[in-house]
Amino acid sequence: QVFRLEDYRPSDYLIPQTRLTVRLAPDATTVVAELTIERRPGGDAAPPLVLDGDGLKLKRIELESVAQPAHEATPERLVLNDLPATDRFTLILETELDPDDNKALMGLYRSNGVYCTQCEPEGFRRITYFLDRPDVLSVYHVRIEAPHAAAPLLLSNGNPVASGELGNGWHFAEWHDPHPKPSYLFALVAGDLGRLGDSFTTMSGREVELGIYVEHGKEKLAAYAMDALKRSMTWDEEVFGREYDLDVFNIVAVSDFNMGAMENKGLNIFNDKYVLADETTATDTDFANIEAIIAHEYFHNWTGNRITCRDWFQLCLKEGLTVYRDHEFSADQRSRGVKRIAEVRTLRALQFPEDQGPLAHPVRPRRYREINNFYTATVYEKGSEVVRMLRTILGAAMFRAGMDLYFERHDGQACTIEDFLKVFEDVSGRDLSQFGLWYNQSGTPNLTIKPSYEAGTLTLEIEQSVPPTPSESRKRAMHIPLAFGLIGSDGKELEWTEVEGASVEDGVIHVRKRSHKLRFHGVAERPILSLNRGFSAPITLAVEQKPEDLIFLAGHDSDPFARWQAFNTLLTDSLISAYRCVRGDTRLRFPSQIAQLAGRIAADASLEPAYRALAITLPSETDIARDIGKDIDPDAIFVARRGLSDFIARSNHEPFAELYRELRDDGPFSPDAAGAGRRALRNVVLGYLARIEGGADLAGTQFSAATNMTDLVAALGTLAHDHAGSPQAEAALADFAARHGAMPLAMDKWFQIQATAPGEQALDTVRALMRHPAFSADNPNRVRALLGTFSGGNQTGFHRADGAAYAFFAEMLKDIDQRNPQLSARLATAFRSWRSLEPVRQQKARQALASIAGASDVSVDLRDIVERSLA
Ligand code: ARG
Ligand code: ZN
Repeated sequence: QVFRLEDYRPSDYLIPQTRLTVRLAPDATTVVAELTIERRPGGDAAPPLVLDGDGLKLKRIELESVAQPAHEATPERLVLNDLPATDRFTLILETELDPDDNKALMGLYRSNGVYCTQCEPEGFRRITYFLDRPDVLSVYHVRIEAPHAAAPLLLSNGNPVASGELGNGWHFAEWHDPHPKPSYLFALVAGDLGRLGDSFTTMSGREVELGIYVEHGKEKLAAYAMDALKRSMTWDEEVFGREYDLDVFNIVAVSDFNMGAMENKGLNIFNDKYVLADETTATDTDFANIEAIIAHEYFHNWTGNRITCRDWFQLCLKEGLTVYRDHEFSADQRSRGVKRIAEVRTLRALQFPEDQGPLAHPVRPRRYREINNFYTATVYEKGSEVVRMLRTILGAAMFRAGMDLYFERHDGQACTIEDFLKVFEDVSGRDLSQFGLWYNQSGTPNLTIKPSYEAGTLTLEIEQSVPPTPSESRKRAMHIPLAFGLIGSDGKELEWTEVEGASVEDGVIHVRKRSHKLRFHGVAERPILSLNRGFSAPITLAVEQKPEDLIFLAGHDSDPFARWQAFNTLLTDSLISAYRCVRGDTRLRFPSQIAQLAGRIAADASLEPAYRALAITLPSETDIARDIGKDIDPDAIFVARRGLSDFIARSNHEPFAELYRELRDDGPFSPDAAGAGRRALRNVVLGYLARIEGGADLAGTQFSAATNMTDLVAALGTLAHDHAGSPQAEAALADFAARHGAMPLAMDKWFQIQATAPGEQALDTVRALMRHPAFSADNPNRVRALLGTFSGGNQTGFHRADGAAYAFFAEMLKDIDQRNPQLSARLATAFRSWRSLEPVRQQKARQALASIAGASDVSVDLRDIVERSLA
C-alpha cells in the first residue's frame, strides 16, 4: 500500500478524551480503553467508525454501556457501522498484549525487565484500537496497575494524580496529561529502576520536578544528562522564550531501543546510550551526543508536542526544526565554528549519499509505503539546514519574530509545512514560495562558479543545477543563499562599490535563477573567493580555484567553516589524484605543501585544538568514495588514503611527537568542549604517529596509561587498525574485554573497533564476534555496533571484491527482519550507494539485494528499502 500526501483528509471522528487502564503482566497485559468519541463538526452524516489496530486481540467491547454492539474486528482494524445518533458517545475496548513477545520494540514491550512503550509513528495501534494519526488530539488519563515487587515505579505522561495499594501485592498509579496530544506521544514505563532527581524553576517561577530513571546502581551515570537537561530548559527560555508546562519532567533510559530517544509528553524515553556516561565508560563524542539528544527531545515539547504534525508527510515540521534548535543549543554551549564543521561532516556523510542515490526523497516526502523508513538524514539533517537557510535569508530578528508567531498562532494544533512558511511570510512580507522548493524537491543542488577579474570588476558566472532523482526528472531553480567574502592579499575583506546580476545582502548572494552573471564593481585587487561560508546552503560547489588560493584561505579565512573547507578541499583533491595513480598503477605522489600546512595547522596555538583536530583529519574512505562518485574501487581508496596519511606523518614526525607530549592532560577530567578538543587533537596526532616506527608501542603505552574512555578507544582503535595482529593489539583487545565485559555500552566500542578493522578478514572477525557472549542479535545497539559499523564504516571489509560480505549481510538482514523490521530496514540502507561501485562489486551487491527481494517472508519495511534500492 502506498500513502500519498495529496490523499490527506481529516478524520470523520475525534477522540477528545482517552482513559486507559493498563494491567501489566509479562505475557498477558490487559488494556482497557475508554474513548470519548465525537463526530467531526461538518463531516458526513453517519460514516462508519474505523479504528486502526496492529496485531491486536479484542477481548471486550462496549458502546454507550451496551455490551457487544455490532462490529467487525480484525487484528488490523475495528469497524463500527451503527453508531449512536448523539454527537458524543463512549466506546470501551479491552485488548490483551504480550509485551515479552514484542521484539519489534514498537508498542508496549519489556526491555531488561522494564515495561516501556514506543508509539511514534504508528505504535499506539499495537496497544489499543484508535484513530492512530497525529491530527487526532486527545486528553489522556492513564491508570497503571502492576505487582509492587516487579514494578515499584509506574510512570506515564503528564502529572501524577493518584496512587495506592490494591492488595495481593499489587499497586496502581494514575497520571493525567492536561495537554491534548496525538497518540504517538503516549508513553508508559513500569519497572524497578533507580532515580536521579533534581528540580528546575522556570522563568515564570513554576517548580518542575526532574527525574532520570536508570538501572539501579547507575544513577551517577545520569549526572551529565541531568545537567544537560537543565541547560536545555534555560536555553529554550532565553533563546526562544519557551517555558516548560507540566509539574514533572521524567526521562527513562532503556537498553533496547530502535532509535536515539523519544519525546513523549513529560516522559521522554531514551536509548541508554544517550543517557549513561562517565569518563571511564563514555567518550567525548558520547558526551556531546547525550547533550544534543537530551536537548533535542526536550525542545520537542514545543516543536512537536505543543505544535504537532498534521500527518507523517510533515515529519520534518517537527524534526528538521528541532534538529536546528539542538544544533544551535550545542553551538552556544560549545564552540560554534567547530560545531558547524561537525554538522557539515555529518550531513555530507549521511544525507548527501541519500540524496544522490536511489533512496533520495524530498525533505517533505510525497509518498511512502512505510513511514518508519522516512526517519532519515534528509528529513532530519537537511530539514535542519532548510530552517537554517530561512534564518539566513530573514536575519536573526525576523526569524525570531516568525517563530514567536508560529508558537502563538499554532499552539495546540497539528500543522503543515505551509503553516510554518506562512508565519515567516507574514512577519517579513516576503514571498517564500520559491524557497519552499527546499521541502518539495529532492537532490543536492550544485553551483558551478567561474570567477574572473578585470580592471576593478569581479565577475562571477554562476550556474545552478539540481540532478534528477527518483520520480523527479525535471527540477526547478531553487533559492540558494550563498554566504561569501572577497579576501584581499593582506587577508582583509575587500569592499565593492556596486553589484549587478543578483541580489546581494549582508554578505549573502541570493541565487534564484539557473544562471547569473554577477558583477562586483570597484574591487581594489583580484580577490580570493571565500564561498558558502558557514555552509550557508546544503549544496555542492564547483569553483575553479588555484591551490595557492586554497592554501591562502586555509591559513587566513575569518570564517572557520570556509577555512576548514579550504584545507579539506586540498586534501580531497590530492587523495583523488592519488586514487587515480593507484588505479593506473603509477607511483603515488603528494604535494609537500599539504604536509607542511598540516603541520602548521596542528601546531597553531592561535586556533582551538578541536578545530585543529578536524582540520588535519583526512576525509574518510566513504567521503572520498562519495566525491569520486562512480566506478569506485574501495581498495584503491584505502591505499591512496593510507599513502597520504603516511606522507603527512613522516613529514611531521618531530613536531607531531612534540605536540603529542605537550597535549597530555594531567588535571582532573572534564567533558567540556575545551578538554574534548585537546583530547581530539592529541588522538588525531596519535593516529599519525602510529603510522611510523615505534607507533605500536606509543599506542600501547597510551592504552595502558589512559584514564578516560576517549583516550582508551583511540589507542585501541589505532592498535587494532594499524597494527592488527601485533602482540600489543591482541593484549589490548583482551584487556578491554576483561575490564568492560559487564558494561554492554562499552563493549559496543570493542565490537565497533573490530568490525571496522580494514581488510577482507574483517568478515571472519564479525562472524566470530556474533558468537561472543556480549553480543545479542535482538539488541539494536549491539547489532548496530557490530553489523551497522561493519556495513557502513568498513569500506574494504564490507566491499570485499568477492561479494562474500554482501551475501553474509543479506542473510543477517533476513534473520533480523523476522523480529525487528525497523532495524533490518535501517541496516539495509548500507546498500544505498551500490550503483557507484565498480562493475564487479556492483553485480555482487545487486545479487545480495535481489536475494532479499526474492525471499517470501520479508517485512514491508525491509522490502521497501530493498526494492527502492534496486529500482
Ligand atoms: N521522534 C523521535 C526523535 O527524533 C524519533 C522516534 C522515531 N521512532 C521510530 N521508531 N521511528 O526524536
Ligand atoms: Zn526528534
